[in-house]
Amino acid sequence: MPGEFGLAEPDDVPGDEWEELDVSDTDADRIARRQDREFDEFRKRVKDADQLKVEGSVFDEATLAAIYKLVQDGYINAFGGPISTGKEAHVFEALAPEKEVAVKIYRINATDFSQMREYLEGDPRFDGIGSDKKAVVLAWTRKEFANLSRARKAGVRVPETIAVERNVLLMELVGQADERARRLAEVTVENPQTAYEVVREYTRRLYAAGLIHGDLSEYNLIIHEGELYVIDLGQAVTVHHPNARSFLERDCRNVASFFSRQGLSLDPDDLIEYVTDADPDPSSDLSDSPPADPPDRTR
Ligand SMILES: Nc1ncnc2c1ncn2[C@@H]1O[C@H](COP(=O)(O)OP(=O)(O)OP(=O)(O)O)[C@@H](O)[C@H]1O
Ligand SMILES: [Mg+2]
Repeated sequence: MPGEFGLAEPDDVPGDEWEELDVSDTDADRIARRQDREFDEFRKRVKDADQLKVEGSVFDEATLAAIYKLVQDGYINAFGGPISTGKEAHVFEALAPEKEVAVKIYRINATDFSQMREYLEGDPRFDGIGSDKKAVVLAWTRKEFANLSRARKAGVRVPETIAVERNVLLMELVGQADERARRLAEVTVENPQTAYEVVREYTRRLYAAGLIHGDLSEYNLIIHEGELYVIDLGQAVTVHHPNARSFLERDCRNVASFFSRQGLSLDPDDLIEYVTDADPDPSSDLSDSPPADPPDRTR
């Protein structure tokens, strides 16, 4: 319902266990090695496609092979333009058989490893992977896929996962190519109190499912037709992670600070308490607040 930020319904709420991440050789690695004639042609076609000539980056052979595999498997019919060019990943639109999808491609060589380290060290899913860049990025991509799937099961509105191939993650495109979903940071939040309560509830559901986002802010919350989506779960860690508490505190501070700027009177500690409370009182940290001032226009 536009403007109401209707909460997603929880599905089969997962516990706080983690899944094993399979980082063995994939078909894409094998295709990259084999480089058959068909793939050669595809590679030329893709390399010539303007859409994939993102500034400063040409994808390596194995990334092209991963995209090729997704095409071969029928997940992608055509590539669209870039949605976002970030430090760690590029996001593109693509056409799937019946819908548009988002393709998130993690960069292997350009990735800033030091930024990932605080999330990797202490995550049992990365034990034994060592410091091989490629292995880490592949595991990171699978981790985002696993985190998104787990979040969705826990009743958090996130893009639906479709497939993962090497460093390429395919998911539901929120919005359409010609009407891109906006980051919360880019829009005028018409009902900040409701939006805050939805973000608070999603953060709590994530936590109850054993996950902490780790980079939660108005930049990783997108909005489309009045619905809020949590995105970018690559770095999300389980509650067992040694830095879990500090990530949670940072996430809550970011959220409280954004919504304070929208006119709400919030204390990040109340948010942390709400999120970590298994059975919270939904009216808890807003009940003492004075009526919210009209929100700042953020556009
Ligand atoms: N499933 C999706 N549907 C629509 N837009 C998306 C989707 N996934 C990502 N985006 C867009 O791409 C941007 C970058 O995605 P994401 O945050 O997952 O990657 P990132 O690695 O954090 O990149 P950045 O460094 O730019 O933040 C998002 O802010 C959003 O605008
Ligand atoms: Mg992001």
